[in-house]
Amino acid sequence: MTGDGADRTPGAAIDPPSWFSSGAAVSDPGIDEQFEREWPDCWERAGDLLDWERPYETAFRGGDTPPFEWFPGGRLNASVNCLDRHLPERKNQRALVWEGQLDGGRSYTYLELYREVNALAAGLRDLGVEEGDVVTIYLPMVPELPAAMLACARLGAVHNVVFAGFSADALAERMERADSGFLVTCDGYYRRGDAIAQKNKADNARLAVDRDVDVVVLDHLGQGVHLGEGYHDYCELIDAHEGAEVESVARDAADPLFRIYTSGTTGEPRGVTHTTGGYLAHVAWTAQSVLDIRPEDTHWCAADIGWITGHSYVVYGPLALGTTTVLSAGTADHPERDRLWKLIDRHAVDVFYTAPTAIRAFMKWGAEHPERHDLSSLRLLGTVGEPIDERAWHWYRDHIGGGECPIVDTWWQTETGAILVSTLPGVDAMKPGAAGKPLPGIEAEVVGPTGEPIDPGERGELVITRPWPGMPTALADGTDWGERATTERDGWRYYPEDAATIDDEGYVTFLGRTDEAVNVAGRRFSTMELESTIVGVPGVAEAAVVGADHETTGTAIYAYVAPEHGAEEADLRERVRDAVEDAVGSVAVPEAVVFTPDLPKTRSGKIMRRLLEDVANDEDLGDTSALRNPEIVGELQSRTPN
Ligand code: WTA
Repeated sequence: MTGDGADRTPGAAIDPPSWFSSGAAVSDPGIDEQFEREWPDCWERAGDLLDWERPYETAFRGGDTPPFEWFPGGRLNASVNCLDRHLPERKNQRALVWEGQLDGGRSYTYLELYREVNALAAGLRDLGVEEGDVVTIYLPMVPELPAAMLACARLGAVHNVVFAGFSADALAERMERADSGFLVTCDGYYRRGDAIAQKNKADNARLAVDRDVDVVVLDHLGQGVHLGEGYHDYCELIDAHEGAEVESVARDAADPLFRIYTSGTTGEPRGVTHTTGGYLAHVAWTAQSVLDIRPEDTHWCAADIGWITGHSYVVYGPLALGTTTVLSAGTADHPERDRLWKLIDRHAVDVFYTAPTAIRAFMKWGAEHPERHDLSSLRLLGTVGEPIDERAWHWYRDHIGGGECPIVDTWWQTETGAILVSTLPGVDAMKPGAAGKPLPGIEAEVVGPTGEPIDPGERGELVITRPWPGMPTALADGTDWGERATTERDGWRYYPEDAATIDDEGYVTFLGRTDEAVNVAGRRFSTMELESTIVGVPGVAEAAVVGADHETTGTAIYAYVAPEHGAEEADLRERVRDAVEDAVGSVAVPEAVVFTPDLPKTRSGKIMRRLLEDVANDEDLGDTSALRNPEIVGELQSRTPN
């Protein structure tokens, strides 16, 4: 396949194909202007995608500064919006298709998922879960994960999903911070054919948490689980409440739906709380307008639900719209490198949404894998999590999209809850490499160091200059977010901490983060958090963590470590890796641990991270005159593997 002969000049725009536009959920080229003219009432279009138990008074209430209220007066329940309201028309339609790692699978119709959620909600209520309680969910990609999220939502409880790959310490910390007294987990799961023990980690976390914790354990592997005091069996709980119908708890639009932790500059996990009304409306609206999801579609967002992408576009967006969502456990290359393509073929997937990291891995594995399968059901492709380079963009379109599917490159983050910058696939031309424009109703600029808009093509930083429905509670309330949310002379601003350029048509190209975070395989880690873990290893004097370009994962973690005098290096390398695995999880284990007698420092003693980044990426080092110890540069270069 060679594609459709689209113009491949860098930066050239590619119009959406007419077969796509004519059927797209949004195809009106005037939508941008309309939203602008009608802001904030334009957001009723998102609010009206939901069913409200009490209608909202207005889409938005607020002035130039917080508090900002989205859909004030409105009351709703998220599980009713994702389940109950679809029953009259599609109780026998599949809500969820699950593909297990060992090639087994299961699906749930809307009615079946409704029943599972109700039985679990009744069980959790019996354990004492009440409106406003925080329930931590520590499950891999199994159907019981979205069921547990929706069961919490039904009760008005706040879910706190912790990525299954995180360690016991990371879990305990997130439970403590969220003051969570309930945990839903499982015995273990398969990854690449190996059984991974999950309950052991949950047990250790429970011991580390101060308060009493009730634990519900799913026997996923089916080998029987030992349950001690305070533990409850998931299946017994469901069986005991089979057929139960739990009255849903109506929540105010601004009430929290869930908490999720992400990595920030401080090195500590940062809790982000999303609302029931604004978040759900924004997610449903972008699932419809950007991902073009319709009820009759099968939608596959290949992200793990442990991260925000899975919350928004595996669970809430697709289910709010009444579509079929695909959930897949395990990895893309097991048992074979054609696993995803086989599944797209098997389930006639219409929309496929994944990360550039994955696409670069597919490229490396070769086009022969997708070519063995019929991918003609695909109508739209999406990417998220990091910039996609033009080569990967074209490969994706040619080899997965049959040379003709539009691609939406969607920019957003845990804090934004839903997509803010992208193209509307039925309206806007695509520019490979650029994410797109701020969506209708979203206002953003690219600014220079003094906060002034900069010229097209110049490197600056993205700033969001108007509130959006999916904003987290802290931004809406005006809780202090340090320098990230400010009110300046020209009003309220939110800084996502992303470097970017903008062209003269308003298309934004993202260039990576401006804070101390590294994005590995689309997952965000804080360099500070990793450094403090590494420095805690006996024998380590100092450490600096930087991101190095990596062919498949986009960025790889390089740890530069200065050992204490006399420390045994071979042994230390293992201990550094183990410490990171214990504190954060195996996903954050450094690709390279480079020992150096000293770290590069400025005269004031600050570690010159920029220099380490350049060394890690084998780039020109630029100006090193600020270095106190220039003799170290040669050492660093000779020891860095590249
Ligand atoms: C980056 C994931 C370029 C960005 C949804 C952002 C992107 C961070 C894109 C958020 C994109 C996300 N192009 N960069 N399309 N999408 N990012 O919180 O740096 O895990 O701030 O949310 O990923 O990561 P998070």
